[in-house]
Amino acid sequence: MNRAWLLVSFLTATVGENPRHPPLVQLDPIRRGHVRTLNLASDRVHKMETLNIYPPVFGIEDFLEDWECDHIIQLAKDSGLNPSATESDIDLPSNNQEDDMEFDAAATWDEWNSNGDEYLDSEEIIESMSDISDAAMTPDDVASMFEELDLDWNKDAMLDFEEFAASDASAVDRFVKRFRRKKPWLKRRYSAHTWLQQSMVSDPVLRSLRKRVEKTTQLPKIIIERSEPLQVVHYTARGHNHGHHDSHPVSAAPDCCHRHVTSHCRLCRYMTLLYYLNDVSGGGETAFPAVNRTYDEVEFSHNGLWNLSAHCDTGLVVKPRKGFALVWYNHQIHENGEIGELIGESFHGGCDVLSGEKWIANNWIAIDHTWGYDEAINQHQDIGRRHSTHVDL
Ligand code: OGA
Ligand code: FE2
Repeated sequence: MNRAWLLVSFLTATVGENPRHPPLVQLDPIRRGHVRTLNLASDRVHKMETLNIYPPVFGIEDFLEDWECDHIIQLAKDSGLNPSATESDIDLPSNNQEDDMEFDAAATWDEWNSNGDEYLDSEEIIESMSDISDAAMTPDDVASMFEELDLDWNKDAMLDFEEFAASDASAVDRFVKRFRRKKPWLKRRYSAHTWLQQSMVSDPVLRSLRKRVEKTTQLPKIIIERSEPLQVVHYTARGHNHGHHDSHPVSAAPDCCHRHVTSHCRLCRYMTLLYYLNDVSGGGETAFPAVNRTYDEVEFSHNGLWNLSAHCDTGLVVKPRKGFALVWYNHQIHENGEIGELIGESFHGGCDVLSGEKWIANNWIAIDHTWGYDEAINQHQDIGRRHSTHVDL
């Protein structure tokens, strides 16, 4: 990818005179394999390597020391982990009279029948189910659903419109819920997690981590301080987190928030710093299947590249290593340092853990317009004017 093009693509049009938060900066990836040094510790230098250009992805070996990783895992265990849910944890429409949601067979048929022929085949059912019910079924699972709910009268392994319209949607809903309980590894995200506060009064390791994040990202301290707590995630065998974006597109809402989440605001996770807290004996890679191509939501839903249990070999694939930090940008920035559009190609996820377990921590650097950044903006205004939005260390 051409560097001149890249600069232009990052520096999208200025939206206003002043950003509504202290101006952000974005590290220039320069080229794949480029190494810069970071002075994060008094006794040694860290090396930050460019792993990808667009979106910019970097890797830092030994960002955390072994004992620090162990310590963070212990803090997470002490706080208690809960099964992770996804945004798509919703019920299926039902034709049951008691339910307020109507099952509109014709409309649903049109939505599900992506190739527009006379039948819903197993592939179309798998794709639709995964979109609405967070269950990545296999063709065998669809066959047992047909059998158990007596959906496929003529046993041709497909549903025609008559069979589909006669199906009891609430029975399908119950089947899917039971299926997800029995086979949790078929969910989009199969893990458990907890959140650890990183405030001034919190644990010394987490405090020192925050300083390292500030030096690495070169972002204003106040942005780091007002970001989300650290999310610690635990995966057991078959655990994964299928392809997703960590942040929301601008079209979702004008305001960014994470402190008071409402339907009028969106998550604006400008950057992700992901730390591997242990060595995984098999699998558990982090994959970015959309790099080196253009991310298109519909295409990715069809081609199945979101399903990292099936595809963990496309784009950038990073092996977990204890203490390694994977750092990337989820958003572009405007020329004035304001957070810009979501980078579609930052689509990523965690592949299946094949053996052993996997621990990671997500350090999301997020903007929240509800904080009231006025003072911080005044302090930063001069810097913002003088500063290029690109920095090289
Ligand atoms: C996440 C995530 C990737 C991984 O938790 O949001 O993308 O490798 N995880 O576990
Ligand atoms: Fe993620």
